[in-house]
Amino acid sequence: MIIQTVAQSRLGEKDFNELPFGSVYADHMLVADYENNSWQAPKIVPFARMEMSPSLSALNYGQAIFEGMKAYVNDNGEAITFRMNENYERMNRSAIRMCMPEIPEHIFVDGLKALLQLDNKWIPRQENAALYIRPILFATDEAVGVKPSDNYRFCIMTCQIASYFKEPLKVLIEPEFIRSAQGGVGFAKAAGNYASAMYPTKLAQERGFHQIIWTDAAEHKYLEESGAMNLMLVINNVVITPSLSDSKLAGVTRMSLLHIARTWNMQVEERLVSIEELIAAHTNNTLQEVFGVGTAANIAAIKMFHYNGVDYELPAITENSFQIKGGGYLNQIKQGKTTDVFNWNTTIPVK
Ligand SMILES: Cc1ncc(COP(=O)(O)O)c(C=O)c1O
Repeated sequence: MIIQTVAQSRLGEKDFNELPFGSVYADHMLVADYENNSWQAPKIVPFARMEMSPSLSALNYGQAIFEGMKAYVNDNGEAITFRMNENYERMNRSAIRMCMPEIPEHIFVDGLKALLQLDNKWIPRQENAALYIRPILFATDEAVGVKPSDNYRFCIMTCQIASYFKEPLKVLIEPEFIRSAQGGVGFAKAAGNYASAMYPTKLAQERGFHQIIWTDAAEHKYLEESGAMNLMLVINNVVITPSLSDSKLAGVTRMSLLHIARTWNMQVEERLVSIEELIAAHTNNTLQEVFGVGTAANIAAIKMFHYNGVDYELPAITENSFQIKGGGYLNQIKQGKTTDVFNWNTTIPVK
């Protein structure tokens, strides 16, 4: 791997406690270009702006996908990442759907390891902080005309982050707008999915909600997912989550928490979850928990959901709540604070 290091590190220039989410990037980034039908050698270079033409295909037609992961350090100061391969495979599923070339493993996986090794000192040592990893792939043809681009750039950048949400969430069950539909690209981490969610989310935020819980496109009857999170419920001690489909992102946090629940012999159900069922469980007091799960948001408690003019307050979370016990255990594994019994972490030795 070609590695070009910075002359002077920017580490420590900004006060970590003042960092806005996703704005201060580590010293280096990985860049690999796809040209002449093949991937060129990846390079690690100083993090910097990129020059581009206004005709850039990604800007005009939206062939742009991304991933989101986190790195922590263990007690030996080694970088650890969580289920890296799941993100790698999901990125390539997104690439196929958006008609983009798949990224070879040596570029994504080995490139990320080399990057984390080089920028190890950027991984925050503070409690509840992490180095957020953002791989992106975008089309780089410089010509207008709707067609799949011939050229692409893959890049991995990293940035220091603290908590995503500061308080339990109030969410709106969305009765009108949709995030994605059957046959669409909801299962892909396509940039456009996030763009189209912004306007409905802004309207919900103006009404005092933090996030939207999306409902199905056909009938607005079933719960889908929320913002950058999958959704989980506990009803009558059963962990329930909307089943995966082509309209939802298959979250790594979701799959890991379900695995933990099953390992703990909890009953787990992946199926359609209707708004009617949610409200009935709330009314008959069997609804114990509703929460969001995702890499950036972590385990996000929901304290109230709103549907059709009514606010539904959720029961208080206790130390026995699954989101606390299961989510806490998951975080301990991710942060290298307990034995990685499922073999989920990749450890990257200090150079
Ligand atoms: C739309 C959407 N759903 C769910 C998730 C949660 O996925 P993961 O747990 O892999 O971060 C994310 C975040 O990546 C997301 O953007």
